[in-house]
Amino acid sequence: MMRTVSKLVIVVIVVVVGTVFVAGPAFAETDAVSSATSGTATRNLYLSNCARCHGADGQGDTESGRLYDVPDISGGRLRRKSSAKLTTVVMRGGKSMPAFSKKLTRKQIASIVGYIRGL
Ligand code: HEC
Repeated sequence: MMRTVSKLVIVVIVVVVGTVFVAGPAFAETDAVSSATSGTATRNLYLSNCARCHGADGQGDTESGRLYDVPDISGGRLRRKSSAKLTTVVMRGGKSMPAFSKKLTRKQIASIVGYIRGL
């Protein structure tokens, strides 16, 4: 009886260690891929929610941008403003800018804020 149990324990250990060993590099690859796509995902979020007014480059040189007198947020202009302040602007919106607190998650807003500070 004791023998069967210890054999079972050894089998379990071999399977677990083997799985980690084989799957380890695969996990590492998935991580690299997902962080690469998350940059693209953030850019897509910006393009689908913000670019119609602010423009793909942040200069606000769009039809809506001119209509609403959108400020230029490109060229590192937002780097001087704190992420906290920019997060509030995006969540609450402004005079002509819509609020995004219900449309986007806090995580999505945080990534967009990081993205626009680098425009
Ligand atoms: C309907 C047009 C419109 C859309 C869509 C829009 N904005 Fe704006 N945004 C504006 C306008 C106009 C202002 C100037 C403040 C105001 O009048 O509302 C502004 C201001 C800002 C500011 C403040 C800039 C500064 O110098 O302080 C930030 C940051 C900003 N927008 C980011 C975003 C982000 C990020 C999105 C997408 C999630 C977005 N905006 C979507 C029109 C828009």
